[in-house]
Amino acid sequence: MIDFFTRVSWWLWVLVFLVIVAIWDIFFQRSHTIKHNFPIVGHLRYWLESIGPEMRQYFVANNREELPFNRIERGWIYASAKKENNYEGFGTDRDIHAHQHIFVKNAMIGYQLPKEHQNTKNPYFLPCAKVIGAYNKRKQPFRPASIINVSAMSFGSLSAAAVKAMNKGVQKANAYQNTGEGGLSPYHKQGGDVIFHFGTGYFGVRSKDGNFSMEKMKVLVDENPCIKAIEIKLSQGAKPGKGGVLPGAKITKEIAEIRGVEIGKDVLSPATHKAFSSIPELLELIEKIAQETGLPVGIKAAIGKLNQWEELADLMKTSGKGPDFITVDGGEGGTGAAPPSFADHVSLPWVYAFASLYKIFKELGLTERIVFIGSGKLGFPAKAAMAFAMGVDCINVAREAMMSIGCIQAQICHTNRCPAGVATQSKWLQNGINVPLKSDRLAQYFKTFRKEFLEITRAAGYEHPCQFTMQDIQVNVDDDYLSSDLKTVYGYEKTQVPFKNMQDLSDCQYLGGALKTTIKV
Ligand SMILES: Cc1cc2nc3c(=O)[nH]c(=O)nc-3n(C[C@H](O)[C@H](O)[C@H](O)COP(=O)(O)O)c2cc1C
Repeated sequence: MIDFFTRVSWWLWVLVFLVIVAIWDIFFQRSHTIKHNFPIVGHLRYWLESIGPEMRQYFVANNREELPFNRIERGWIYASAKKENNYEGFGTDRDIHAHQHIFVKNAMIGYQLPKEHQNTKNPYFLPCAKVIGAYNKRKQPFRPASIINVSAMSFGSLSAAAVKAMNKGVQKANAYQNTGEGGLSPYHKQGGDVIFHFGTGYFGVRSKDGNFSMEKMKVLVDENPCIKAIEIKLSQGAKPGKGGVLPGAKITKEIAEIRGVEIGKDVLSPATHKAFSSIPELLELIEKIAQETGLPVGIKAAIGKLNQWEELADLMKTSGKGPDFITVDGGEGGTGAAPPSFADHVSLPWVYAFASLYKIFKELGLTERIVFIGSGKLGFPAKAAMAFAMGVDCINVAREAMMSIGCIQAQICHTNRCPAGVATQSKWLQNGINVPLKSDRLAQYFKTFRKEFLEITRAAGYEHPCQFTMQDIQVNVDDDYLSSDLKTVYGYEKTQVPFKNMQDLSDCQYLGGALKTTIKV
């Protein structure tokens, strides 16, 4: 027998194999017409199609072509995270006359750093200019010690190693991490500030019947001093109004414990909340949570219709109460998984979303009461300058944070096969993540971001980005003026944020992170 096999030459074996494949293609498989009509070679089509995205990314697409993040943007994050040279040579390769291109107007003579300034000692020092929860006199107000922070991403959509690396990273960068919808896991408790976020599934604060449990919320906050604020998710840019099912097969003992659900049973995240169904009820819930926990409470949403936002603003005006912060997510925002019809079309892009929303609160004189947080591809200093000029006080980044710890934009978060181990539950894939190294990378990305953002700010003549006004940024609009400042384009002026100086922020008793004790001028 062995003798027979060794005497038949290799090419005859190849021939036999191909004949078997051809017979299978023609007579047995019925799902692919191409394979039936073009046996053997038909397979090539499917194989080439499957490696197409990688081929285009590596060899074909130009530097500025890809979405959501092009090669230059990704390269800037990778280099910043590794503290490598993140400059470009020879000048911009952008078409600076293109529609929506933004320009930051520089001052004739920029802001000169005094010798004894916080940023002379620490070039990365850039806390939020507003205190979350100050207006509503919450028991524990919170000033984020960094204007860039990690956006909502749950343990479940991210791997344990990724969540851990991000939490250790925010600790090193004095930033905060938002838990996302999956509850507070042990991986979120590595020393960094945390914003606890919950959606319609109420994971981590869920009663037996799937409703919100105030008792669990109180216990969670009492037991975890790392939680500095609470965020109620109304919607996110990639899939507003879309519920979801977490299949029982994915609910391990660990996930069941963290999320407060039963092992092995499908769990439904409905499209809407059970705990409230109207704006007055939402406002009531916010107040109750704030009273019971002592923490600031905010909401996160993607923006579309404005009538309910107007109702919220009216109610805030008459009642004197309201959310401590509002996170505005752009329609271009990311997700672990969403139907393309939602991701591509439901909710407004960030600039239109934020401008429409801010105007409502501005008209009623409410902007000083709210800390505005923006998310939606804002993790680049010039984009952030535009966002600050429009009225944000902080930005959250999700995919940029993922890239800083090794995400290669494979765009297969929904398959559990993330090659970088970031968005997968596969033990093998996530074991590739070197947590201490990746946490350094996230911290360095945040620090480099803040340093560059401060440099742009000073070039515009300011000490802190909260001082940017709508007239400081110009955008190509392709109308008869070709380029207009933000005030003209979006039709409002931002309320000036009260700001004394960096020292004042550093001295603030509500400053988050570990900065209070580490830098004193
Ligand atoms: C993997 C992944 C998981 C996410 N999970 C949540 C979530 O649980 N809750 C939420 O409100 N947003 C979630 N988001 C949206 C982000 O928090 C963020 O709002 C959005 O991606 C825009 O920020 P970016 O452009 O910096 O990625 C998720 C995004 C990603 C990429």
